[in-house]
Amino acid sequence: MNTVVPALALSGVSKHYGQVAALRAVDLTLARHSVLGLVGENGAGKSTLISVINGTVLPTDGELRVNGSVVAPGAPLAAARAGIATVFQEQGLVANLRVHENMLLGRERGFARAGFLGTNATAALARDVLNELGIAIDPMAVTGDLAFGERQLVEIAKAFALGRIYPVEPIVLLDEPTSALSDKETQILFNSIRRWRDKASIVLVSHRLSDVFAVCDHVTALKDGTVNGHWAVADATPDMLHEAIVGRPRSAGYYKESEQREDLGEIVLDIRSLTVPGQLRDVSLSVQAGEIVGVAGVLGSGKTVLGNAITGAIRPAGGEISIRGKRLKPGSRSDALAADVGFVPAERNIAGVIGMHSIEWNLTLPSLRSFRFGRWPVLSAARQARVTDSWIERLRVRTPGRAVQIRNLSGGNAQKVVFAKWLARGIKVFVLDDPGRGLDVGAKEEIYVLLRDLARQGVAIVLISDNLPEIIGLSNRIITLRSGAISAEINAPAHDKPAETAVVPHMV
Ligand SMILES: Nc1ncnc2c1ncn2[C@@H]1O[C@H](COP(=O)(O)OP(=O)(O)OP(=O)(O)O)[C@@H](O)[C@H]1O
Ligand SMILES: [Mg+2]
Repeated sequence: MNTVVPALALSGVSKHYGQVAALRAVDLTLARHSVLGLVGENGAGKSTLISVINGTVLPTDGELRVNGSVVAPGAPLAAARAGIATVFQEQGLVANLRVHENMLLGRERGFARAGFLGTNATAALARDVLNELGIAIDPMAVTGDLAFGERQLVEIAKAFALGRIYPVEPIVLLDEPTSALSDKETQILFNSIRRWRDKASIVLVSHRLSDVFAVCDHVTALKDGTVNGHWAVADATPDMLHEAIVGRPRSAGYYKESEQREDLGEIVLDIRSLTVPGQLRDVSLSVQAGEIVGVAGVLGSGKTVLGNAITGAIRPAGGEISIRGKRLKPGSRSDALAADVGFVPAERNIAGVIGMHSIEWNLTLPSLRSFRFGRWPVLSAARQARVTDSWIERLRVRTPGRAVQIRNLSGGNAQKVVFAKWLARGIKVFVLDDPGRGLDVGAKEEIYVLLRDLARQGVAIVLISDNLPEIIGLSNRIITLRSGAISAEINAPAHDKPAETAVVPHMV
């Protein structure tokens, strides 16, 4: 086969949604057997581009060629036959099916034609693909029993399984696969990608520039729906990419250390001997007004469970949680809400926002009680609209207006709405689990500014994260969790931040 013909070539691709130009005359090439990084701000058009390539979105204009041949636009089956497989930004696995059933879901006929029939054959095929990718997951496991990151790996294996049906080399499109993965799972994925590079061509969307440098050969930056730069990774630097993505150079003091509050107030959140069988052991922690306490730990360390327990999303078996001296009812989300505890959970599409509702509704829902006329419980529509608009502006949510349904926002912009709904309400305690997930480098920085503002106003903040630079940069104090128990407490004053190497040994 002619090796100079690229695996994928897009020319002049545009996509308009009403007034919104999601893509404008995009040209893009993916060289055969290479990995192309696709980067850009929230709403830049990355997911739209992925959807145009896999045929689920019909472009307004433009042409797509696979191995030199034109593929019909807006035709998912034609794209699949050309070998294009996608791992979407939002997970699409069915929880009560087994792993191997999910891996061929929607492709049953193709598998049957390729000669794979019956449970044994599909399970064997699934095992084979998982093995080849180096993913240690049992194809017979029930998908819903797997951890979030493991389900993401199954999605990835599902995309690669497509290469077994159609006799073409797969072109695998990965839309932010690493944002839901721990460091360890990210390494598994990258090893899989390196192994597959001789048999496939890959597009990887990511907000982590470190992903680009770890595994990509080339990188294309999108900005406002157009291509704003293309490089061989060997010729690119993080600063160049940052500027192409955000449109301005990366600021020194990304984590706003100089604005860290050192004069803390009274204890706001007090946790005593919190226990969740098998997940948390005797965790005690207090957080003062204006303080940011970072919680670091590997997957399964209990850090997500801790966030869920503080906010009433799960009911601990023992221990107590008080807010300003008042005890919370264990496992009661409404009691935590009444005590002004805000929560940005790890799995935002489940617990964060309601997709079919508008931005305005999602943003003002937790604060409805403040939209009264005096004593009258009447909503002031005008005020609700004003508040929504001000947050859209402040967080730069890319949208034509407040009435837009959340599901029509880009992934990162939907997350900004999750933040805004708490900021609009006024809270005393803010628990955030992986707040940077899915946010572009500029939006992250905006969130960091907001967290510093909240701290200045006296909010007690618990920051759960996988991202060590973020935890170290933002926190006054860091606790590490290991097997459900606190393994260390490390001070992190603005003028004397600990090194990552001082934190990691307490996590593993
Ligand atoms: N179905 C839709 N209806 C209306 N507008 C849409 C729709 N899908 C996407 N858009 C808009 O198109 C633009 C590009 O969105 P896209 O999802 O491609 O961004 P993205 O680069 O993937 O962002 P993120 O990093 O946040 O995932 C956004 O302004 C978004 O609001
Ligand atoms: Mg996206």
